[in-house]
Amino acid sequence: MFIQRKFPNTRLRRLRRNNNLINLVSETNLTKDDLIQPIFVKENFDGEEEIESMPNIYRYGINQALNEIEDIIKSGINSLAIFPVIDSENKDHKGSQATKTNNFISKSIKEIKRQFPDLVLIADVALDPYTDHGHDGIIVNGDVDNDETNKILIEQSLILADAGADIIAPSDMMDGRIGLIREALESQNFKNTILLSYAAKFSSKFYGPFRDAVGSSSNLGESSKSSYQMSLKNKQEALHEVALDINEGADIVMVKPAMPYLDIIHSIKDSFQIPTFAYQVSGEYSMLKLSISKGWLDSGVMLESLIGIKRAGADAILTYAAKEISKEIQNK
Ligand code: PBG
Repeated sequence: MFIQRKFPNTRLRRLRRNNNLINLVSETNLTKDDLIQPIFVKENFDGEEEIESMPNIYRYGINQALNEIEDIIKSGINSLAIFPVIDSENKDHKGSQATKTNNFISKSIKEIKRQFPDLVLIADVALDPYTDHGHDGIIVNGDVDNDETNKILIEQSLILADAGADIIAPSDMMDGRIGLIREALESQNFKNTILLSYAAKFSSKFYGPFRDAVGSSSNLGESSKSSYQMSLKNKQEALHEVALDINEGADIVMVKPAMPYLDIIHSIKDSFQIPTFAYQVSGEYSMLKLSISKGWLDSGVMLESLIGIKRAGADAILTYAAKEISKEIQNK
């Protein structure tokens, strides 16, 4: 219904007179429960090393990772996405280590869940940490082969579920993989393993620092992932991807990156009644962090960016800033 609004009966500034009033009528609220912290755990490594292109983000040996997770939980964060950094000697053309039982990631997941049973642990399904060419799938006749890759992703998923991951998150963008993984999980009695599909993952330049972090950028070289990740020009196609993944058995869908794709988040949340997450990726984090460290931007831009993502419709956000923002919003 259209209501006639007129100054001075209506003065929108009445509700902006102080912070308590502003908070009282705020439409969006970001809490620590909306945040998921990604963490990099490095194989055959003891210690921690800062990732050059990601200020304040480290690759941890498993022991140091456990300390860091304790700190993350202390900050109020209860969900974590784990990414393995694999020794280059253990990478090969087919990403064989991904499907080895008791591989590095399985051992890490087991240890983390043993020490922190209540933590919601999200494990990535994709081959790029394990392949010597840096692609998310295996290459057959020069092409990242969809169906052959799916077979491997199923095995990888079962290993991650068996290790104790609460949520497994296929980030590879192969067609049909959600349905196949769901079917395999059901048949192997992993009925409660949650599938978080990177349903609308765009072929983005914002992943650069992440690829440095896991050491896949030099392997990938000039090669692009555009034959499987989405064209950044398409929104209808993102909805199409999400519809397929819901039909195939996804519990949660995700949009990635976040800030340049707020319209996609909004449309998905509007169109489907399903939990919708957003991934504020490495490049988004780094550009803000670098500007903050130079004093070019106020540190408040990080929180502002996350509230924007939440307002667009995201139910939860993966962000490298999860721990620091959790502390910041609780100390307010
Ligand atoms: C690959 C994967 C990527 C990210 C998460 N999983 C990079 C890629 O697609 O090359 C990116 C995350 C980030 O940039 O923070 N399976």
